[in-house]
Amino acid sequence: MSKEIDTAFFDENGYLVIEGLISEEECDILRDRIDRYITSFDPSEELTVFSSSNSGKQHGEDYFLESGDKIRCFLEEEAVDDNQNILRPKEKSINKIGHALHFCDPIFKQFSHQEKIAKLLESLSYIETDIVCSMYIFKQPQIGGAVHYHQDSCFLYTEPKPIIALWFALEDATQDNGCLSVIPGSHDYPLKQRFIRKGNECEFSAMSSFEWPEEKAISVPVKKGSIIVMHGHLVHASPPNRSNVSRHAYIMQVMDKGSIYKKDNWLQNPPSVSPENIG
Ligand code: FE2
Repeated sequence: MSKEIDTAFFDENGYLVIEGLISEEECDILRDRIDRYITSFDPSEELTVFSSSNSGKQHGEDYFLESGDKIRCFLEEEAVDDNQNILRPKEKSINKIGHALHFCDPIFKQFSHQEKIAKLLESLSYIETDIVCSMYIFKQPQIGGAVHYHQDSCFLYTEPKPIIALWFALEDATQDNGCLSVIPGSHDYPLKQRFIRKGNECEFSAMSSFEWPEEKAISVPVKKGSIIVMHGHLVHASPPNRSNVSRHAYIMQVMDKGSIYKKDNWLQNPPSVSPENIG
């Protein structure tokens, strides 16, 4: 790979911004491709709101819990009223599409498995990997919901090595349209909680009482085509988008093949992970 990866920065801070590894054309291919899923989405049949609140509850729980090997659309909380009526055109209402774009869609699959991404992961000591989850995030103008401070390993727990997230900016992410905020160095914090599946329900299970110093968080604005790599324990968030422009991103969460994916994670039997790595 021609790009120099600052592994020392990642080791110290738990995140890393890489510019220029992905071209603007590649971003546009993903943005064009996602249109087919917006077109085929019928909110009258599948009205499901995504919430990052701490209750762990999603409207349409089964629709959410069974999306691990599918491509499904989830709406912004502010796009529907109390009676679950959609308030604006569907293309301006979708919060995210997930959670197996990397597996089910050939264009996203090709993008996700390309060699330069594998080389990037390799340089961070993730030599042999499986993608466990992928999402397309819209962060819609004016109503793009906040994502509260969290650690990705809370939702997708692997051991001994945590997952690593790749966050691809498909548009410029700014402080106005809700770019990521991170607490540098928080990858060394213990995992605060886990989001555990029990049958057809999920709940948060406390792991530590460590208080996150949110005042230490910094914004990470990035240009279209940039990648933000995040350690699974890194504490991060994003504020709501009240601007008039969207902030599209594609996210892949990846595990090391030498680790075990816990079978009580909310997302069960991820299709790219072999059964011997689930336990
Ligand atoms: Fe996250």
